[in-house]
Amino acid sequence: MNLISRIRVASLGLTVPLLNFPKPFTFVGPDASLSLVREIIGFGVKRVMVITDGQLLQLGIVNPLIELMENTNVQVEVFSEIEPDPGYELVLKGVQRLKDFKPDAVLAVGGGSSIDGAKAILLSHANDCHPSRLRGIWLYSLPRKGCLPFFAIPTTAGTGAEATIAAVVSDKAAQIKYAIIDPKTVPAMVALDPKLMVSLPPFITAPTGMDALTHAVEAYISTISTTETDELARMSAASIMRNLIIAYTDGQNLEARERMAVAACMAGLAFTRAGVGYIHAIAHQLGALYHVPHGLANAIVMPYVLEFSKPNCAHRLAELARISDIGENGASDAELADAFIARIRKLNAEMEIPESIKELKREDFDKIIDRAFAEAHGTYAVPRYMTRDDAMVLLEKLLP
Ligand SMILES: [Fe+2]
Repeated sequence: MNLISRIRVASLGLTVPLLNFPKPFTFVGPDASLSLVREIIGFGVKRVMVITDGQLLQLGIVNPLIELMENTNVQVEVFSEIEPDPGYELVLKGVQRLKDFKPDAVLAVGGGSSIDGAKAILLSHANDCHPSRLRGIWLYSLPRKGCLPFFAIPTTAGTGAEATIAAVVSDKAAQIKYAIIDPKTVPAMVALDPKLMVSLPPFITAPTGMDALTHAVEAYISTISTTETDELARMSAASIMRNLIIAYTDGQNLEARERMAVAACMAGLAFTRAGVGYIHAIAHQLGALYHVPHGLANAIVMPYVLEFSKPNCAHRLAELARISDIGENGASDAELADAFIARIRKLNAEMEIPESIKELKREDFDKIIDRAFAEAHGTYAVPRYMTRDDAMVLLEKLLP
């Protein structure tokens, strides 16, 4: 990593703790989604645009929320065209629908793609610009206008998008994913409703939960973490280590679902300040190049990046092991760090997550490294930076 990138990361470390990031007011528990909608109605809104995906609409998960609003004479327009990894075209379509319907509030219901898509649509709409112009950190842009009142109901326990200042958008033509980072995209209120998550199949529960764990772990080993992000990340990681496998094997378990939802939201609050790291930087490229789902890519890449990072963060990984009841009493930090990484591998195996990326090709290594370094260096405060050779060795391990 060059000197300019090091200075940028150091300046983020100095600046971020001084900034006041908004946090959404959060309803938690069975039927929390209905409580949130009642609050929205109570604000006197007359026109609400619901942003979601077609599948959720078909499953009937959004219907009770729409009915509650319509029964109190709130006019509802549903934009249900959200698809995985929302791109420019989708964002622009959403902006047009906002212009046509002129809502006085927006409610996103769904996984990370619905909430990220809604954030990009809202910010593009407010600033009347193409989403590509919103790329990167708001600190380096001209002042932006605020969005319409925004509310969110996540239906997966994963991205933490309901609590973060970031939205990931895809430039599909260039096969690149990038982040829009702006505190104006944080919802005013969110609802974490485990009842909306009980029907999630195990193959979604597993990768989304591992995405949340990645947020907690990367935030905790970040070199710009704060006392607040450390506490959030520790509690989140410990809760996920205990509850993810329960939610995976017993999807109807409301308690485990609720704890996972809260943990994912806490991890979101942690990484929105402390940032993520190489796991995400590499996983984003695997998503953009081969369409590997985000959480799955994170889950597979995580043990390898933690092995590489361990020499500079063993004490932090050991702390996560201690709080998660992993490892032997009296074990050294190095032993506990190993035990923590081993538990992640075991969790992956128990949830049938493979150890390699089946689509990965050696001829793409240079492209993946260029893009992962472009994302990470100067942006992510990781405990140990990689050289090109380090990254090559790591990618070799990910080959099928
Ligand atoms: Fe993530």
